[in-house]
Amino acid sequence: MSKPICIGILGGGQLARMSAFEAIRLGFNVAILEKIKNSPAGQLTKEEFVGWVDNKKLLKKFSEISDIITLENEFIDHKYLEYIESIGKTVIPSSQTISLIQDKLIQKQTLAAAKIPVAKFVKVDEQTDYNSVSRQLGKKFVLKSRKMGYDGYGNSTINNSKDFDRAMIYLKDRHSDLYAEEFVSFRKELAVMVVRTKKEIKTYPVVETIQKNHICHTVIAPGDISERLRRNSIEISIEAVKSVKGFGLFGIELFLTENNKILLNEMAPRPHNSGHYTIEACITSQFENHIRSALNMKLGSTEMIKPAAVMINLLGKKNGPGVVSDLNRSFLFEDVHLHIYGKRQSRKGRKMGHITMLGENSKSILNYLKKVEKKIII
Ligand SMILES: Nc1ncnc2c1ncn2[C@@H]1O[C@H](COP(=O)(O)OP(=O)(O)OP(=O)(O)O)[C@@H](O)[C@H]1O
Ligand SMILES: [Mg+2]
Repeated sequence: MSKPICIGILGGGQLARMSAFEAIRLGFNVAILEKIKNSPAGQLTKEEFVGWVDNKKLLKKFSEISDIITLENEFIDHKYLEYIESIGKTVIPSSQTISLIQDKLIQKQTLAAAKIPVAKFVKVDEQTDYNSVSRQLGKKFVLKSRKMGYDGYGNSTINNSKDFDRAMIYLKDRHSDLYAEEFVSFRKELAVMVVRTKKEIKTYPVVETIQKNHICHTVIAPGDISERLRRNSIEISIEAVKSVKGFGLFGIELFLTENNKILLNEMAPRPHNSGHYTIEACITSQFENHIRSALNMKLGSTEMIKPAAVMINLLGKKNGPGVVSDLNRSFLFEDVHLHIYGKRQSRKGRKMGHITMLGENSKSILNYLKKVEKKIII
C-alpha cells in the first residue's frame, strides 16, 4: 500500500483524541469530524472536518478520505452511519449495532431478549403516570431519556408523583422519549471493556467505578470482587456485545447488587472512561485496541503490567481556559501519569483530564491520588 491507512473518527473529544494518538503512533493517518475547529482530537491532524453529520457533502468528503470509520459516542443517528455504509465504507461498530444501543429502551429490550440480567424497565409515554410505573417497578425508580444521555444528564430518580411530574417536563425538554427503570441498590458499580474482531474477542479486567454526581470519578483496577463475580461479569459483558452483533470496542457498565447479583446497567460502543487506566496499566490500551479492532487486525494483550492501578478524572474546578493553573505544581508527582485533554474551555465539573498511577495495592494508590487530584487546578 502506498499511502498510510486513514482512520476516520466521528467526534473530536477526549476519547477521539486518545484513539487518534494511538493511531498516529501506529503510523496511520486520522481524519476527525467535529462541530468545532481545534477540538481535542482535531488539533492532532490536518484532516480536520468542521461541521456535522447532517451536512451530507461534508460527511461524504470525510468518508471518502477515510479507509475505515469509527466513532467516539453513540449519539450519531444510525441513519447517518447507514449512509456511510451505502457509499461503500465500513463503520465499526456498524450502523446496525449502533441502532440497537443508541436508544436505551431498545438496548434494554435487546439485552433482556438475550437473557442478560438487567433491572426491570418499562416504556413511558404521554399517558404514563407515577402510579402506573410504581405498580411495576416499586415506589422508587429512575426515569431516563432513551437517547442522548451522558454523565447522568437525562436521568432522574423518582420517589413520588411530584418528582415524576417535574422530571417528565424537565427530561422531555432534553429529549422527547423516556423510559423508567427499577432503582438498583448497588454495593458497587463495575465495568468491563470488551474488544472484538471477526477472529477474536478479548476482555480487560473487571474494574470498580465510583461516580460522583452521576459522573465517573474514580476507577480501581482490578475491582475487589470474588472470582465467581469476576467470571460472571466477564460472561455477561461478552454476551452483551454478541447480543448487539458488536464488533469493535465496547464499555460495559454493571451493577453489583446488594444481593450479590450482577446486572448490566448500560453499554457504550466506544472507548470508555472506565478504560483510561489501560493506557499505562495494560500491555495494550483500550485506545490501541480500538484502532486494531476497527481495522480487524490482531488484538494486543489486555493484561495488566502491575497488580493494581487507579485512575481519577480531573474535573474542571473553575470556569475559564482549559489549561492547568500551575504547571510546576501539576508536574510534581513523578509516579503519576498526567493527561490533559486540550479543551479550550474549562467549566466546573467538566472532564478536563485524568491521572493514573500503578502499584502493588490499590488502597494506597487511591489515597495518594486523591491528594494529587486536589493539587491540580484546571
Ligand atoms: N436504575 C438505577 N438504579 C440506581 N442507580 C442508577 C440507575 N441507573 C443509573 N444509576 C446511577 O446513575 C449513573 C449514571 O447512569 P447511566 O449510566 O444510566 O447514565 P449516563 O448518563 O449514560 O451515564 P454515563 O455517561 O456517566 O455512563 C450510574 O452510573 C449509576 O450510578
Ligand atoms: Mg453510564
